Amino acid sequence: MTRIFSGIKPTGHLTLGNYLGALRQWVAADQRPDEALFCVVDLHALTVEHDPARVRRLSRQVATLFLASGLDPDKCTLFMQSHVDEHTRLSYLLECTATDGEMRRMIQYKEKSARAQASGEGVRLSLLTYPVLMAADILAYGTEEVPVGEDQRQHVELARDLAVRFNQRYGQTFTVPKATLPDVAARVMDLQEPTSKMGKSGGPGPGVVFMLDEPGVIRKKVMRAVTDSGDGGVVYDREARPGVANLLDVLAACTGGDPAALAEGYSGYGALKRDVADAVVELLRPVQERHAELAAEPAAVEKVLRVGAGRARDLARPIVDRAYRAIGLLEP
Ligand code: TRP
Repeated sequence: MTRIFSGIKPTGHLTLGNYLGALRQWVAADQRPDEALFCVVDLHALTVEHDPARVRRLSRQVATLFLASGLDPDKCTLFMQSHVDEHTRLSYLLECTATDGEMRRMIQYKEKSARAQASGEGVRLSLLTYPVLMAADILAYGTEEVPVGEDQRQHVELARDLAVRFNQRYGQTFTVPKATLPDVAARVMDLQEPTSKMGKSGGPGPGVVFMLDEPGVIRKKVMRAVTDSGDGGVVYDREARPGVANLLDVLAACTGGDPAALAEGYSGYGALKRDVADAVVELLRPVQERHAELAAEPAAVEKVLRVGAGRARDLARPIVDRAYRAIGLLEP
């Protein structure tokens, strides 16, 4: 049985990219006999300028979308990061294991701190230490596999390094985790900028399809997707034709086909876009319906989170306690 942990930050409305690249893959994982934990990593939403009411709203919405996507709370553990103190308890010990230089080398820190500085906001100290908290999320559970996108690989590498270092200095305490990346077709790119990923935090860009977008809005966004210049017809070439390749990847991810083979069925972009729009609308329809039902019963979602937090705490507490003893802290 493999132990899996992953999380999504409540920093924006979840996108088609979150669904295909994360949630849908997680649902497939929870069909296996693995021990899987899926977490709304709300503490991570506080590392840049934030609005408390929005974080509250999005946290609830992300948790509801976990369930609406088909994650079964009887088969996996669904919870809110801030409900389990072990994350922050362990994070401090890992801050005493990591170095300042290691943190400043993180690509995401460099990008996000530059952005915060440019907009005249201060750079929160938690933005620098964020990968340590993420390492704590992972290591607190004895996690073996971390399904994440390519952009998180460096952070999972850091978690590995910290686990190995801690074990060497203080004795065997942590399982050394590894990142598992989704299939290529599950990596959804922005419809307007097909060389960057479809992200939730960049604001409501016209190239981002949200999981809860109305069908009409989804259609409009897909029909306006950029395609590539040149008259090569519909061919699957990620390097030379990223816009068309992304549409084919989305279609393949929705319908289960192979993107290169699907390309052969189209002579023009219009028909391809119409089929992509239909496929995405149909893919998200049941999730949206389930979301509407669950959103009407917030107490049921809260109960799932309460039970999940209890289970998560029971798993994490002995591991984090062991780390406290190993590093030299006396038992209370
Ligand atoms: N940093 C991840 C992201 O931005 C979210 C995250 C936080 C995470 N803690 C995690 C993912 C632990 C996997 C495991 O997408």
